[in-house]
Amino acid sequence: MKKALLFLSLSAGLAAPALADLQLAQSKNCMACHAVDKKVIGPSFKDVAAKYKDTKGATDLLAGKILKGGSGVWGPVPMPANTQVSEADAKKLAAWVLQTK
Ligand code: HEC
Repeated sequence: MKKALLFLSLSAGLAAPALADLQLAQSKNCMACHAVDKKVIGPSFKDVAAKYKDTKGATDLLAGKILKGGSGVWGPVPMPANTQVSEADAKKLAAWVLQTK
């Protein structure tokens, strides 16, 4: 019983920030071009997480791409700069994307 409670509170603790970050991504319009588990206009966030799982500094790298946009990594379509996103939110979003795998 104690174990079950501990498990419940642990999983609730993990799920809540992930959900908050999904809502952040929705509010910043990321989900207009991305989905967690399928390609839309941009790559799925799971694919991004898999690609960068062994990359050092991936959070900073992707936070920079989120802010300034990027091109040529996933296909012919570039990602425009997301000027509505603060640097702190870009880091939060990058860290969230990397844990969607
Ligand atoms: C207008 C469509 C569009 C919007 C809006 C958009 N993206 Fe993207 N995103 C793309 C495309 C297209 C790519 C692939 C670019 C490439 O091939 O380098 C991409 C790539 C990425 C990558 C991988 C970058 C890389 O170099 O591997 C991440 C991470 C990402 N987007 C996160 C976000 C987040 C977070 C937001 C919201 C703040 C967002 N995107 C909003 C279209 C979009």
